[in-house]
Amino acid sequence: MSTDATAIPATMPAWTQHRYGGPDDVALEDVPVPVPGPGDVLVRIRAVGLNSADVRVLRGDPLLIRAAFGLRRPRVTVQGRDVAGTVVAAGTAVSGLRVGDEVFGEITGGGLGPYAVAAAAKLVRRPPNLEAITAAALPMAGGTAWQALDKAGLGGSDAAGRVLVVGAGGGVGTLTVQLAVLRGLEVTALTGERALPLLRDMGAVAVHDYRRTDIADLGTGRFDAVIVIAGSHPLRALRRLVVAGGIVVLVSGGGNRVTGPIGPIARAAVMSIGASRRIRPLAATATPAITARLRDLAASGSLVPHIERTFPLSDARAALAHLDTGHAIGKTVVVAG
Ligand SMILES: NC(=O)c1ccc[n+]([C@@H]2O[C@H](COP(=O)([O-])OP(=O)(O)OC[C@H]3O[C@@H](n4cnc5c(N)ncnc54)[C@H](OP(=O)(O)O)[C@@H]3O)[C@@H](O)[C@H]2O)c1
Repeated sequence: MSTDATAIPATMPAWTQHRYGGPDDVALEDVPVPVPGPGDVLVRIRAVGLNSADVRVLRGDPLLIRAAFGLRRPRVTVQGRDVAGTVVAAGTAVSGLRVGDEVFGEITGGGLGPYAVAAAAKLVRRPPNLEAITAAALPMAGGTAWQALDKAGLGGSDAAGRVLVVGAGGGVGTLTVQLAVLRGLEVTALTGERALPLLRDMGAVAVHDYRRTDIADLGTGRFDAVIVIAGSHPLRALRRLVVAGGIVVLVSGGGNRVTGPIGPIARAAVMSIGASRRIRPLAATATPAITARLRDLAASGSLVPHIERTFPLSDARAALAHLDTGHAIGKTVVVAG
């Protein structure tokens, strides 16, 4: 393993949880600095973009995710998946990255501490003209937005089309709106009132406050695609919004606290059999090739993620609490020293 000349400590203070719960169940605790495996690198963290995935795993909500993340307590005890930082050690099988490289990407957790281990293959290089804070805001939310637009089949070379983004004000939503505009789509945004001016500035041609708007009033057969990121609007009402041949993409399926979106996804599958208006769930995956596309757009200034708040690493619990309200606008980023 190659390492930085600067000594890497044996332990570090990281925001750790030992049981499912809220931000108050996270505490700064001395834990061993992780040791990279052959295909991994150790990253000195500069910035961590938080996502709803962090608070979902923190809470073990819906209960179904505990089957994957630990039945009684979380297996990933340090949250933080979208990291930007400096490679300080590289495993023996790593060839594409070296100590000193600036990188970012979506990892499987562990970002809320000074160091985190990441599979080298999951990271992309960060150029000097892209700030670490901006880079950390991109991977999961931007990757999800990208894959949702791809699933909708919108934004190819002959880009044209009308898309409704439901829940447009959060991390995934603001990036979906921006990427849709970049793809040449006509974007309508439905979300909370506070985010509406921002979304208009981002290029949405129409914006609606979900607390004052009945989605049925947005027009029957008016959109080529509806991308659903928040809310629990009835599937039939969502489907009525799209043209024949159109699609409703469920990024978030709503559902209950036990099985989460499983029920709506099953209903969507049944409703889509033989139907010209389809409803399809999205299961986004961490895809470095997409992270690299997002990087290039952000580095050129075409894509500017909206970072509503930053918090120092020493206050990461407050950052988790901010996201846990469910009303954060755009991205929340934790900044290490
Ligand atoms: N399928 C996948 O692969 C995948 C990947 C990543 C994320 N996700 C999911 O995607 C969601 C993204 O979360 P996020 O953090 O970006 O956003 P969020 O915080 O969950 O919500 C975003 C916005 O939605 C608005 N909203 C709430 N209820 C609404 C409704 N009924 N109609 C329209 N807008 C409504 C909120 O406004 P107010 O604040 O005014 O209430 C908020 O601005 C999460 O549920 C996450 O689990 C899925």
